[in-house]
Amino acid sequence: MDHKTFKLRSQEWFGRFDTLGFTHRSWLKNQGYPDDLFDGRPVIGICNTWSELTPCNGHFRVLAEFVRRGVYEAGGLPLEFPVMSLGEVLMRPTTMLFRNLASMEVEEVIRANPLDGVVLLTGCDKTTPSCVMGAASVDLPTLVVNGGPMLNGKYRGHDIGSGTDVWRLSDDLRVGAITLDDYLDAESCMSRSDGHCMTMGTASTMACMVEALGLTLPGAAAIPASDSRRRKLAQLSGRRIVEMVKEDLRLSQILTRPALENAIKINAAVGGSSNFVLHLLAIAGRLGIDLTLDDFDRLGSHMPLLVNLMPSGEFLMEDFYYAGGLPAVIRELNDHLHGDALTVNGQSLRQNTENAPNYNRDVIASIDQPFQQEVGLTVLHGNLCENGAIIKPSAATPALLKHRGRAVVFSDYEDYEARIDLPDLEVDENCILVLQNVGPKGYPGMPEVGNFHLPKKLLEQGVTDMIRISDARMSGTAFGTVILHVAPEAAVGGTLALVIDGDMIELDVSDRRLHLDVSGSELARRRENWQPRPTHSERGYVSLFLKHVQQADTGVDFDFLVGKSGADVAHGNH
Ligand code: FES
Repeated sequence: MDHKTFKLRSQEWFGRFDTLGFTHRSWLKNQGYPDDLFDGRPVIGICNTWSELTPCNGHFRVLAEFVRRGVYEAGGLPLEFPVMSLGEVLMRPTTMLFRNLASMEVEEVIRANPLDGVVLLTGCDKTTPSCVMGAASVDLPTLVVNGGPMLNGKYRGHDIGSGTDVWRLSDDLRVGAITLDDYLDAESCMSRSDGHCMTMGTASTMACMVEALGLTLPGAAAIPASDSRRRKLAQLSGRRIVEMVKEDLRLSQILTRPALENAIKINAAVGGSSNFVLHLLAIAGRLGIDLTLDDFDRLGSHMPLLVNLMPSGEFLMEDFYYAGGLPAVIRELNDHLHGDALTVNGQSLRQNTENAPNYNRDVIASIDQPFQQEVGLTVLHGNLCENGAIIKPSAATPALLKHRGRAVVFSDYEDYEARIDLPDLEVDENCILVLQNVGPKGYPGMPEVGNFHLPKKLLEQGVTDMIRISDARMSGTAFGTVILHVAPEAAVGGTLALVIDGDMIELDVSDRRLHLDVSGSELARRRENWQPRPTHSERGYVSLFLKHVQQADTGVDFDFLVGKSGADVAHGNH
């Protein structure tokens, strides 16, 4: 379609010849734009989560230049803008506290400005869901360019993975197995290039999620950040978003229920992070798609594991890219997927992947010979998690997936830190560690502490895993028999708040059961005596968060952000 005959949203700003039109054009001209850039061509927002405080996105100013190049080539006008960036490794107390805030900014900035389409530059964990959530509530043509993973960590002759090896190295340091010099050396060896965590942690999971949803050009997820093909992808994405605007191909046409179901199955096959559940639920909520926690179990738990990446396996994202990346996985799964789901390049998921090559079966298995059978995220129910909890069996110890043990309870993270290494803590390897008040409202912000360290005295005995239960999240790079996202959380009076030392807990993952073996009358007595803890903040954003955040089983979005408002703005610029 000729952009001169197609009335674009941006023409409400630039296509008028009155005071407002003068103002909109004139002030932009202070940047040197010629008149013909306001002639009705698509205006593309480049939504940039670059920040020096988000090192995983530190190369995004360069990446944005390649998107810009592509937009110009296709006849569009690119306008880059910054949004709140959520840097996983620096922000306290947890980036999850700010995901919804960032999504609000993305939504409002897109809607308030003369944009016809948007390219979202995302990388570090929460920068992806926050941008997609915000963009979904506006629903313009939208395309994601993810920043790509770091190159493999290389430490003294072997590969080390972001996050995953941090836990191992930290435990080694705690028990004296390595020196502090070794530890510091490993830091440099682990993070040696641009990009996000190169394990199948949350950032890689989110990159796979947006590709599985059809929001990126094919093959985008795995290209290393410092590989020149990442820049090419950005440039091609810049070209494509201009076409998407001309086709009026909106986000809601890509993010359909079949696309979400595809993403759940693909996430299982790649061994994706448990955080995937929260973010996809929140995205679905913005689109008005009735996705439930049980859908993740129904659709994903029986899927096989096809990708051999840490923390579930042994390789890293760079290897994944050289093996064929996500298209090779999707091709294997095609019989299980809605292959006709539309993607941003205008082709279906099946069309994009039906000839995808697989160059390394040690990294990407065939559907007939998977690395593991039935390893998707499993949803648990029972009196200890009335609205559900999840476990990632592929990262767990198989022998612990059916277990009965004595509870050792920590009332909050401070209590845990104070007592976990006490020599007289009454704990053995058969116990079940319970951590309370680390959920959305309890911490607040639902931090990634669900994979909390084992007692030092048990680590020294060679114990490597125990069942841990909490209302927290777990880093996507972590591993262990860890039950997460217990809902309702302890801070709102969920049964998790009522567990005390010595209670017996039963886990049976194949039965989807998490049971606190305490009589109903005793639980009722404890509930009567239960008192909510004092709130953490009476003012500011945290107070808004505490008033409006929802529980883990619906995605931890704010109640007033669910749904979308579209792209219309009631008034001009005054
Ligand atoms: Fe940014 Fe892992 S810390 S992706």
